[in-house]
Amino acid sequence: MADAPLRRVPGRLTAPPPGWTTTSDVVVIGSGIAGLTAALRLRGKVEKILVVTKDVLAAGSTQWAQGGIAAALGPGDTPAQHEHDTLVAGAGACDLEAVRVLVNEGPEAVHELIALGTRFDHDPDGELSLTREGGHHRDRIAHAGGDATGAEIQRALIAAIEQAPEIEVVQHALAVDLLLDDAGGIAGVTLHVMGEGQRDGVGAVHCRAVVLASGGLGQVFSQTTNPAVSTGDGMAVALRAGAALRDLEFVQFHPTVMYLGPDSRGQQPLISEAVRGEGAFLVDALPEEGGNRFMQGVHELADLAPRDVVAKAITRRMNETGQPHMWLDARHLGAEFWERRFPTILATARSHGVDPVTDLIPVAPACHYASGGVRTDLWGRTDVAGLYATGEVACSGVHGANRLASNSLLEGLVFSRRIATVLPDELRPWSDPVEDTRTAGLVPGSVRRELQEVMTSRVGVLRSADGLAEAALMLDKVAGAAAEEVSQEAWETTNLLTISAALAGAAALREETRGSHWREDFPERDDELWAGHFDAVMVDGETTLAFRPAPATDHLVEGATP
Ligand code: SIN
Repeated sequence: MADAPLRRVPGRLTAPPPGWTTTSDVVVIGSGIAGLTAALRLRGKVEKILVVTKDVLAAGSTQWAQGGIAAALGPGDTPAQHEHDTLVAGAGACDLEAVRVLVNEGPEAVHELIALGTRFDHDPDGELSLTREGGHHRDRIAHAGGDATGAEIQRALIAAIEQAPEIEVVQHALAVDLLLDDAGGIAGVTLHVMGEGQRDGVGAVHCRAVVLASGGLGQVFSQTTNPAVSTGDGMAVALRAGAALRDLEFVQFHPTVMYLGPDSRGQQPLISEAVRGEGAFLVDALPEEGGNRFMQGVHELADLAPRDVVAKAITRRMNETGQPHMWLDARHLGAEFWERRFPTILATARSHGVDPVTDLIPVAPACHYASGGVRTDLWGRTDVAGLYATGEVACSGVHGANRLASNSLLEGLVFSRRIATVLPDELRPWSDPVEDTRTAGLVPGSVRRELQEVMTSRVGVLRSADGLAEAALMLDKVAGAAAEEVSQEAWETTNLLTISAALAGAAALREETRGSHWREDFPERDDELWAGHFDAVMVDGETTLAFRPAPATDHLVEGATP
């Protein structure tokens, strides 16, 4: 297939020239499990480490993770079984080598997290308490505080960072663009910092390496489980700097997000898959209206089928019945169990007027996770010398077309350890940034809502050639708007547009249904034509999508689609 160019977007973000400069050997962008693990493990191996984060340290997606972290930790479980479940969920689009790294190094990485001070939940007999989520054939999800796993991991990592004076942290710092040297490698990064004294406004950090750990792109869609900071900034800066983005079309929609009404926008409350792991089930109507357990017969794992299967089944049933949501019944778990095991979800649901102990919870799919991102090798290296990526911003190849539940925290942990292993020996000499000749531009923040609506209605759970063509036209219109003022809102919205255009372009080209990419006009998975990946590459604002066939070993496992 010929490479397909997309419409032009800004080659760099319009920004004032840097008003301050500083230096650091390594800049880590992002402060979730991936960023803080990279920083902590680089300690003592490189001289200066700067962690920058767009909000406060705890504001990213890690904090919101409920279910837990998956690893073969329980009696009888093995990395090979974890590998199998990961590959099946990934629907023939995982990188086998990367999955093997993940599942083999996972248990040790989790034990290190425990040694760092993370307090996972334990059974009464003192063993690590493990639960199950969609797509797993075993109990292998370690959790903390019941359903507050991410918050506990984030707490432990921040506590460790606070004990590490050699790691400097700058909060409220948005990465605007990467600075490149004359060989196209990393020479620094421009930041916009809000209210940090000397370092206020746009500045430049000259550095020898950047570790991108800035999370996902959930805010591309109108309803998402992701926090407001997830505007795809890391993917956009990497793309603009010459790194390839891979598998962008594989956006995972979580099946059970609490439905708050047709006008609800932004971050929505997640009802963890672990609730189904503990016995909750989906029904298509209230009991008094004859609600059916519609997941039975759809998949051998029924309500615990892989996430893409459940999200599709819910969407189909919503379309068939004309309802805006389905229902999750977890009343039989009882008050004591709910309070102990899912205190966060219980409190959130009650704050929205639904008591899961007595009421069914209205649920519908919403954007949850980007399985694709900045393409990396097995050591987190990208195409740009000195640029590494880890966590949701990256595409290491472990998730394929649909991430297995609770593999995301593990991916950040495992691949950040790997980056910290190779990066110190690969540190490049200091180099000067060259003049940036890419075409600057910015769309106004006011187009964000329209962009999100287009992406949700045309590039969401269910896609078709007609809808994707309409999306391309509407994104062109959005791209034609020029911002009159520089602002964080405009920078973020331009990043959202940059990623949306590439995502919608890849979704239009992939004429099949695989994992979380669901085409109503091409409802079958097609390994003859589409076993491989779309890579997006940008040169001065012009993005090209190219299809790269995958090695046969990567798609031999029968996936869960559709
Ligand atoms: C969940 O708790 O259902 C989400 C966990 C994940 O995204 O892996």
